[in-house]
Amino acid sequence: MRVLIIGSGYVGLVAAACFAEAGNEVLGVDVDAAKVERLKKGEIPIFEPGLDEIFHRHLASGRLAFSTDLRDGLAEADAAFICVGTPQAEDGSADLRFVMRVAEQIGEALSLRAVDAKPLVVVDKSTVPVGTAARVHGVIQGTGTDRAFEVVSNPEFLREGSAIQDFLSPDRVVVGCGSDHAESVMKALYEPFLKASGGKWFRMDPASAELTKYAANAMLALRISFINEIAGLCESVGADVDCVKTAIGADHRIGPAFLNPGPGFGGSCFPKDLQALLKTAREHGHSLMVLASTVEANRHQKQVLGSKVRRHFGVEGGAPAPLAGKHFALWGLAFKAHTDDIRETMSLELIDSLISLGATVAVHDFEAMPAVKSKIGSKVTYAPDPIACCEGADALLIATEWPQYKAADLGLVASKLKAKVMFDGRNLFRPEAMKAAGWVYHSIGRRSVG
Ligand SMILES: NC(=O)c1ccc[n+]([C@@H]2O[C@H](COP(=O)([O-])OP(=O)(O)OC[C@H]3O[C@@H](n4cnc5c(N)ncnc54)[C@H](O)[C@@H]3O)[C@@H](O)[C@H]2O)c1
Repeated sequence: MRVLIIGSGYVGLVAAACFAEAGNEVLGVDVDAAKVERLKKGEIPIFEPGLDEIFHRHLASGRLAFSTDLRDGLAEADAAFICVGTPQAEDGSADLRFVMRVAEQIGEALSLRAVDAKPLVVVDKSTVPVGTAARVHGVIQGTGTDRAFEVVSNPEFLREGSAIQDFLSPDRVVVGCGSDHAESVMKALYEPFLKASGGKWFRMDPASAELTKYAANAMLALRISFINEIAGLCESVGADVDCVKTAIGADHRIGPAFLNPGPGFGGSCFPKDLQALLKTAREHGHSLMVLASTVEANRHQKQVLGSKVRRHFGVEGGAPAPLAGKHFALWGLAFKAHTDDIRETMSLELIDSLISLGATVAVHDFEAMPAVKSKIGSKVTYAPDPIACCEGADALLIATEWPQYKAADLGLVASKLKAKVMFDGRNLFRPEAMKAAGWVYHSIGRRSVG
């Protein structure tokens, strides 16, 4: 099949590389000319494990190419995937400007197709509110085109950090469409992946497909906020959240996934998708009370690590620069491990709060330092490795669960710090072991020791 992937970000690049891997001819399109130039030269602008290998294989084989102009591939394409960003607008809704611009561009270019060509399957892969497939259809129709097309909703469930594996081996593929032709094109594209994974195929109407994506993200986010709240209670009553989460996760009705307490969820999806779903509900006269509380609980959770630092150092409200002279090492900037994505990451809030109290901060991350540098520049110092980051710090803070941090030589870490004090937002270590090694150790949902 010939496939156009419009938008070459985290989702578009992974989709493009994986569809090429399955034997399709793929043209990736982006408005960002500098990005397209880099991609043509084989430079991948994002970090995603495993992408490199597939990307280069198919750039070399010619099955994967890039352009700034979707007209370069529209005439022959069987399907055109819209994978552009849908950021949060000021009122919380999903900003659909980029999606609608692409719809317009597709409509304007459709005349390049033969009059008797099969209908182009236009696929909304971006996360978009209910009704967007219909709106995209309206915008394309509004360009006055007389060529055949259909609009399909095909939400994406990949996770940054394991995106290639998720795409090549999906649990399920959801396709919201109204015709057998569209379904057959989508099936042909996804069949190799579903065959390999044994994943399920769900055909439904576009509105249900659109809502499925938001409902999935809302469910995952609420599990995180739930366990974070239980973790807070564990601290107050002297219980251990590790015991609680393991035992409740063993119940097959509950399961263990997404029950890890932490410093609050961030990233490019959960925060904005929850807001967009709340907005959709409000527009239809519903209040999603559980979801509103999930958002609120997460706002609180993002402050928890900073509160522990303030409590430990005896910061009183109102005193000017109460942490002046204190220096902190911060491990982890990305919103989670195995990605360089810093959108809505809790680390940036933590840095701001420490600096506003007069402290200085040295940071380390395995992939996200360039993104942070371009966002906040010299507000912090950037360490070449986790150990160097700890040099002369009054305490070590951990915000991202990179496995290398868990494997760090804590003796060496301690030798660089001024004091053996750690605030572990990811529960990488066991409190008893930390106590035995002489650390003052604060974590999430477990008793502080030392
Ligand atoms: N990142 C994830 O983990 C993830 C997972 C599932 C779903 N999604 C959804 O997928 C969508 C894309 O997310 P992303 O993280 O890949 O975004 P991104 O910001 O990384 O990439 C979007 C790309 O689209 C390009 N673009 C914008 N307008 C364009 C146009 N008119 N023509 C061509 N290109 C254009 C931008 O230049 C950018 O490169 C969003 O709706 C997001 O919510 C993301």
